[in-house]
This record gives sequence, structure tokens and C-alpha cells, in this order.
Amino acid sequence: MARKKIIAGNWKMNMTPSQAVALVNELKPLVENKEVDVVFCVPAIDLIPVIEAAKGSNIQIGAENMYFEEKGAYTGEISAEMLVDAGVKYVIIGHSERREYFAETDETVNKKVLQALKHKITPIICCGESLTQREQGITIDWIRQQIKIAFLQVTAEQAATTVIAYEPIWAIGTGKVATTEQAQEVCKAIRECIGEIYDAQTAAAIRIQYGGSVSAASAPELFAQEDIDGGLVGGASLKPDFGKIVNYK
Ligand code: PGA
Repeated sequence: MARKKIIAGNWKMNMTPSQAVALVNELKPLVENKEVDVVFCVPAIDLIPVIEAAKGSNIQIGAENMYFEEKGAYTGEISAEMLVDAGVKYVIIGHSERREYFAETDETVNKKVLQALKHKITPIICCGESLTQREQGITIDWIRQQIKIAFLQVTAEQAATTVIAYEPIWAIGTGKVATTEQAQEVCKAIRECIGEIYDAQTAAAIRIQYGGSVSAASAPELFAQEDIDGGLVGGASLKPDFGKIVNYK
């Protein structure tokens, strides 16, 4: 069965609630495409107004982070149950910015993945190497380790529903997109790793995105690769260009 492409925007720390609603209204007609899943991952404070603004459209809403505990004394955190109650369907887990600035590790990523799945939120699980790691030739080993830890105790049935985003850190926000060959090579290695952890069926079902300076110009070739099932888009998701990326064909 062919995998449905999934194209997600990652707004990061941009857009106040009123700006967010205006952007959704602007992008709504531009991102219509029944053939792909379209997800807007937005700041926590924007979730509720954005869900309201996106009603009746094909846009699904995701959070950019959540905490792995059920509830309680964790000042400032947001739980899976809160996201579900608000109508959130996806959550980005372990983005490299969270790993770099907020001390997230493969272990906390794994806990968050398990918690999201427990509450039937689809995790978009991020992995990616630094420029140094790429230059040292350890990209695939590094990514395989990130994936193996992220999926600890995740069942095959659950894994098949998740999304992995391969985002080379050196390509994020730099305008320096990975070559199609580099992106395909790593996405293929990720699929093989999932095949080793689980089985061929799970590997064939899981969706793997590329992320890092995706633009309207680079999207068509990237998304045409056998193992690339869409993209996680930062900068370009805040512009009408996102409509072109969603309608890349
Ligand atoms: P970018 O960000 O498209 O601005 O490079 C991608 C991401 O961080 O998810």
C-alpha cells in the first residue's frame, strides 16, 4: 500500500494567537490537497484558536512539544491529555532545538513518544546529525542509535502509526538543504533500522519526512524519493510558499 505523504509546518516560537489565526485563514485555501496529510504544528498558546480557525479545512493541528508525565507538579508543562482535549492530533518530539536548548535526550524523547502513543497522539519523532558528525562519517550510526532509543518499548503496531522526521541539524534554518541523495540515503537507512527493530511490514508503513530548509523549489525532488514521505517545514511554513510545498506535484 502506498504511503500517504505528510507535510507538516513547524512554526517554532512564532505567531501570537491573533497572528496565528490570520495566518491560518490566509493559508487555508492554499494548502488544499486531499492526497496529502497537512499538519500545522504551532506554539501551545496558539493551539486552541488555530484549531477553531482550521475547522472545516483539511488542516490537522499538532503541538511542538509535550511532557511525558500524566499530570501534576510540573510547572509550565503541557500534558498529552490536555492536547487531546484541545483537539490536537500530532506532536513534534525531540526537535534538535529542544535537544540543544532544553536538554532533551534520546531517553526523554522515548518517554514522550510512549506517552503520546498512550493517548493516541501521533508523534513526529525528530532525529538528525550535526555537521561534525556528518564530516566524521558517523551519520548513519548516530541516527540508528537515536531511532533505537526513541522506539524502546514501542510496539510494532504503534510504530507503524508514527512519523519520523530526519532533519540534519546543519540544514535547519540555514538555507542549506541536504541534497536529494543525502536525504534519501538517511531516510532509507531509517526505514531499514525500523525493519530490523520490527519487521518489513512496519518498515513499509512508517512515514519518514525530510526537514531542513525545505522550500517550494526543493520539495518536488525531495518528496519524489522512494523513502521520503513528505517534509517537516520551518521557515517556509509561515508563508504562502507552504501552499506550493503542499501542492508540490
Ligand atoms: P527550516 O526548519 O525549514 O526553517 O530549516 C525545519 C525544522 O526545524 O523543522
